[in-house]
Amino acid sequence: MYPQTRMRRLRRKNLLPIFTETRLSPEQFCMPVFFDEAAEEQTPIPSMPGQVRYPVADAASLAEELVSEGICSVLLFGIPKVKDEKASSAYAADGIIQKAVAEMKQAAPDLVVITDLCACEYTSHGHCGIIRECSGTPELDNDASLRLMQKIAVSQARAGADMVAPSCMLDGMVMAIRDALDSTGFSHIPIMSYSTKFASCLYGPFRDAADSGFSFGDRSSYQMNPANGREAFRESELDAAEGADILMVKPAGFYLDVVARVKTLGLPVAAYQVSGEYSMIKAAAAAGYLDEKRTVLETITSIKRAGADFIITYYARDILRWLKE
Ligand code: PBG
Ligand code: ZN
Repeated sequence: MYPQTRMRRLRRKNLLPIFTETRLSPEQFCMPVFFDEAAEEQTPIPSMPGQVRYPVADAASLAEELVSEGICSVLLFGIPKVKDEKASSAYAADGIIQKAVAEMKQAAPDLVVITDLCACEYTSHGHCGIIRECSGTPELDNDASLRLMQKIAVSQARAGADMVAPSCMLDGMVMAIRDALDSTGFSHIPIMSYSTKFASCLYGPFRDAADSGFSFGDRSSYQMNPANGREAFRESELDAAEGADILMVKPAGFYLDVVARVKTLGLPVAAYQVSGEYSMIKAAAAAGYLDEKRTVLETITSIKRAGADFIITYYARDILRWLKE
């Protein structure tokens, strides 16, 4: 008998799950959560059916609920009441994220609370840092923006964040944040770097959710060209050299080759199934074109198979429920 024939016989007898190579376990899923300083109640996000912006008053009860569902970690985004050129509400001690972190950690000390570390939700122009004029055209001021990221990182750690996730892709970002955390007593706080972040069409629904669309230009000067796999790898390699503890590829589903490549660096790899990936499945499922559960589990399994250790997805709660079924 051919060896393949033996395996096919096993499959017919439903014994093949024994040999399933890629398995999903609850600990590896991270749930993104939006906190809106202006919200008094949960506000649905139109472009992301099933997702809401939470008021900070709900932070404690949400933390308890997530833990009871088996969620081990969350990634927090804040939408401040006031935005300005300097993103000052991003590092205010009583900022929306600082409050949300503190409340969640108090209610659920074992929940791993990770904070998205960027400025685009907090700047009036919507860009990921401080803008300066360069021969008439506005551009990101790298070093001024690094100092801003340092302040935000320290304020998030002070609020009780277990890990920070810088997403601005500035030059020297990881090193600057590592220095700032180390010199303020937070050398134990790991950095999960959005080390390979593509300038993707798939962030559209998020910008709606987080109110972080920009008033001019786009992010292609500091996010990666989707055509460039080797350059993407190099970006992650640099972040690893600067001291990142976890590397992240974002978006996930279109970039599985990059996930596999970044995995060879030896650090844990996170992959972010972003808003557009979520909303595409939601829309197709609502139209009756795709089976939602099967589609989600197949995308997630593929992201895992490519090498992701940790998956950030708006479907985290559904996945945990489906895994229990
Ligand atoms: C930036 C940030 C973005 C996302 C995560 N962090 C938006 C962007 O880069 O424009 C996108 C996540 C998603 O689409 O779900 N703070
Ligand atoms: Zn940003």
